[in-house]
Amino acid sequence: MVHLGPKPPQHRKGSYLDVPEDLLAELHKFEELFTVSAETLQKITDHFVTELDKGLSKSGGNIPMIPGWVLDFPTGKETGDYLAIDLGGTNLRVVLVKLGGNRDFDTTQSKYPLPSTMRTAKSEDLWDFIAECLKKFVDEEFPHGVSEPLPLGFTFSFPASQNSIKEGYLQRWTKGFDIEDVEGHDVVPMLQCAIEKRKVPIDVVALINDTTGTLVASMYTDPETKMGLIFGTGCNGAYYDVCGDIPKLEGRLDSDIKPDSPMAINCEYGAFDNEHAVLPRTKYDLIIDEQSPRPGQQSFEKMISGYYLGEVLRLVLLDLCARDKIFKGQDLTKLKQAFILDTSFPAKIEEDPYENLSDVQDLFQSVLGIQTTSAERKIIRALAEKIGERSARLAICGIAAICKKRGYKTAHCAADGSVYNKYPGFKERAAKGLRDVFQWETKEDPIIIVPAEDGSGAGAAIIAALTEKRLKEKKS
Ligand code: GLC
Repeated sequence: MVHLGPKPPQHRKGSYLDVPEDLLAELHKFEELFTVSAETLQKITDHFVTELDKGLSKSGGNIPMIPGWVLDFPTGKETGDYLAIDLGGTNLRVVLVKLGGNRDFDTTQSKYPLPSTMRTAKSEDLWDFIAECLKKFVDEEFPHGVSEPLPLGFTFSFPASQNSIKEGYLQRWTKGFDIEDVEGHDVVPMLQCAIEKRKVPIDVVALINDTTGTLVASMYTDPETKMGLIFGTGCNGAYYDVCGDIPKLEGRLDSDIKPDSPMAINCEYGAFDNEHAVLPRTKYDLIIDEQSPRPGQQSFEKMISGYYLGEVLRLVLLDLCARDKIFKGQDLTKLKQAFILDTSFPAKIEEDPYENLSDVQDLFQSVLGIQTTSAERKIIRALAEKIGERSARLAICGIAAICKKRGYKTAHCAADGSVYNKYPGFKERAAKGLRDVFQWETKEDPIIIVPAEDGSGAGAAIIAALTEKRLKEKKS
């Protein structure tokens, strides 16, 4: 069918001549729905700044803004051997970090895939699983034993309230985790207890968020770092504020902590706009929220992060099927399965060169048992692009807001996570989003997103080292 309607956007390569008019019209509607203009980004950023401030106030707001009790900047001179673990994505990672003291470090690591049932397992199963992995790791790395317990930095990538670096009361699970009897409790003793049951010589000395780890690890190697960011299964950021500018810390600080002392803040800004004031949520976002274990929570994250991008695509495709626009007469059993498409799915679709979209064809056949026509593949490809673009553009509002709040005119914003590292086009789209918000006229962008250092490994180790140093100084 010859297309006589509006021209497809410039960036779209390949011919759309075989795409039927009605399907093309659907695509255009969808593209409009998922487009976030520069004006909208600016509006979201301004609201974001207000919400960051609210989160730091005594009465609090929707963004938790959790003080992380990292009260020093790394100097790059920290040394020593530390263990680190990272729980929060699809793997449990155990890392042995040797801090070199010259802005350098070495790591040895093992990854243990989290069994898929672990997201909804029993609390005990989770801690036992982690302790078992730690035992395996320590047995392998230290076959002759250790003279003193190994200090461990625990990267627990969930909102956890802290009154000190050595504790973390889980506020609520995010990213589809839903394990009973952990919310409201301090997770450090739970882990320590499972470790002791197995007589593994480990002492949990610090609990940190992955974003805080990313911030500190990146600052250790690059002093220009102003933020630690994760664009992965979840979406979040950390930065250093000063204690005197954090009203909710009033009365919670030891006398040796000065108003101008730095304090790392784990924003937990995945919870931004839980009040639904500014984000352009679509009906697909509403479905994702309603069907999640924690409806009403993590509104921002649910539109952006890797855990949800494949699901957004699945819901859009199902909607098109329901109106008999695509996959006519095919078995949709698999497509109807929630979360069957993880982020690697839309990412692979975008990686496929335009020529014939044969990878898309194979992917739909192998994962969903669906045969696609050439026209359908083009639509799928365009949808994946739009979903990825929306994610990247919205994601930078957190960065822009922190820069505005802290008055940063230049910044290195250190980013990690599967979406940042593996999703095609994310980096370019995010950079464009920042330009749209700030409208810079300079040749070089003054605020840039850079690849982070290993936050949950090196970051946790550096924080453990900073903590030990602070404790020693306090004692002497
Ligand atoms: C979720 C978690 C947060 C974490 C982020 C990235 O937003 O709540 O703690 O930093 O995912 O892993």
